[in-house]
Amino acid sequence: MAEDPVAEVKELISPYAGNPGDLTRALHRVQKDLGHIPPDSSELMAELMRVPPSRVNEVVTFYHRFRLTPPGRPSIEVCLGTACHVRGAERMSGAIREEAGAGLRYVSSDGLFDIQAVRCLGRGD
Ligand code: FES
Repeated sequence: MAEDPVAEVKELISPYAGNPGDLTRALHRVQKDLGHIPPDSSELMAELMRVPPSRVNEVVTFYHRFRLTPPGRPSIEVCLGTACHVRGAERMSGAIREEAGAGLRYVSSDGLFDIQAVRCLGRGD
């Protein structure tokens, strides 16, 4: 992880700067390289992409793939698909959330685990 994530964000989105239509592409680039979208960089991104800060926040919060916190390791994926729901996925996810001290799509309170809700991993047999 970079020592100055905001400076790194500036460098990462420079190829897209000034093109509001490339906002999602720029965010993907940041997410890919940093593992998350640093929340304190949203105003800088808005300025460079020539969009209102609210647009950056709108896109980041709309798409499930974007995250505002660095990922923990290891990642725990909890399937909430139909087959797993029938087999008790809600109970399992509740136990994990309680044990980890975090909700789904978050990092545990100790920063060690990344907890993500997903849909069907193809293992609901
Ligand atoms: S519904 Fe959970 S793996 Fe398919």
